[in-house]
Amino acid sequence: MLTLPGLIDPHVHMREPGATHKEDWASGTAAALAGGFTLVLAMPNTHPPVVDARSLAAAQAAAMAGARCDFGLYLGGTVDNVKQAAGLAGRTAGLKLYLDQTYGPLRLDELTAIAAHLAHWPPARPIVAHAEGRSLAMVMALAHLHRRRLHVAHLSRADEIALVRLAKQRGWRVTCEVTPHHLFLCEEDLPALGPGRGEVRPRLASRADQQALWKNLEVIDCFASDHAPHTLAEKDGPTPPPGFPGLETALGLLLGAVHERRLTRTMLVERMASNPRRIFGLRAQPQTSLEVDERARWEVRAAEMHSRCAWSPFEGYPVRGRVTRVVLRGHEVVRDGEVRAAPGYGRNVFG
Ligand code: DOR
Ligand code: ZN
Repeated sequence: MLTLPGLIDPHVHMREPGATHKEDWASGTAAALAGGFTLVLAMPNTHPPVVDARSLAAAQAAAMAGARCDFGLYLGGTVDNVKQAAGLAGRTAGLKLYLDQTYGPLRLDELTAIAAHLAHWPPARPIVAHAEGRSLAMVMALAHLHRRRLHVAHLSRADEIALVRLAKQRGWRVTCEVTPHHLFLCEEDLPALGPGRGEVRPRLASRADQQALWKNLEVIDCFASDHAPHTLAEKDGPTPPPGFPGLETALGLLLGAVHERRLTRTMLVERMASNPRRIFGLRAQPQTSLEVDERARWEVRAAEMHSRCAWSPFEGYPVRGRVTRVVLRGHEVVRDGEVRAAPGYGRNVFG
C-alpha cells in the first residue's frame, strides 16, 4: 500500500448552482474523494456565474450543503466587478480571468478591465488565467508590469510552456498547471473520441505539443483535472459543450506514468499536493491521507464512476493504482473504495 497526502485539485467545475443535471456538489465531490482528492477549488462559470457577493453567497451555500470534501471557490473577473471582486477576495480561492473562449459567459476581452483586475486584486490571493497563445503572453506581461503573481490554468502547447519556462528563468512570478487530458491525449485521438466528445478548451493539441509538456515537467507546478462534466446527450448533441470529466482518472493515469518511469512519485506528490497547497495558500488538512493499492491495474469505466456526467474520454484506457482508503480530518471518507462521507462534511477552506 502506498500512502499519499490528500490530493488537491485547483481546477474543477461543479455545475451547482444552475446545471445540476451535469454535476452537483454531492456527486462532484464523491468523484473527487474516489479519485483521491480531499480539497477542490471550484471555478466560477456556474449559472449564475460567481461574480459578486450575492452569487458567491449562493455558491457557498450550495457547496456547504453538498460537498463531501473540502473546497474553495473562485470569483470570476468581469468588465464591471473590479472593486467588488477585490473586496470579496478573502473569501475566495482566487480570481479567475477567462481571456479565451470556453464554456459560460465570463470571457473578458477589454484590456482596461484586465489591467484593472491585475492592479486591484489583493496580492494575498492568486489570479488564475485561462489564456492561450497570444493571450498568455499578454496577461503574463501585464501581471509582471503590475508586480503580480499569476497562475496559468491548463497550459497545453509547446509555445506556451516555452514562454512560462523563459518567464521563470527571468524571475517572473508565474506558476502553471497542466491537465491529465493534455498529457495523455492529443489531436490524433480525436477521430476515436468523435467530434462532440473531443471538444475541450484548450483543444487537444498536436503530438509535438503533448511531448513538449512531458519534456518540461519541471516547469509544471500542478496537475489539475479541469473536471468539466457535461452529459453524453449534450456531448453527442448538435452543439457539444467543451469539457472532459477528470477527477476519477487523474491519479490512475499519473500513477501509470510513474510506473512507466515518465514521472517520479515525488514529482507527482509535489504537483498534486504540496505545490497547489503553497500556490493557493491552503492550510494543512490535519489527519488527512490516502491509501492506494499501487500495483492494481484497471481500465477506465465511466459506468463505475461517481460523476453524474457518466462518460469519460479515457473509457477503456489502462491505468494504475486504486484508491482504497481516504481519511479526511480524522474521518474515513473512503473505505474499500466506497465513498462514505456525507454531503455537508466538506469545509470551505476560505469560509
Ligand atoms: O473545456 C472546458 N470546459 N474548458 C474550460 O475551461 C471550461 C470547461 C467547462 O466549464 O465546461
Ligand atoms: Zn476549467
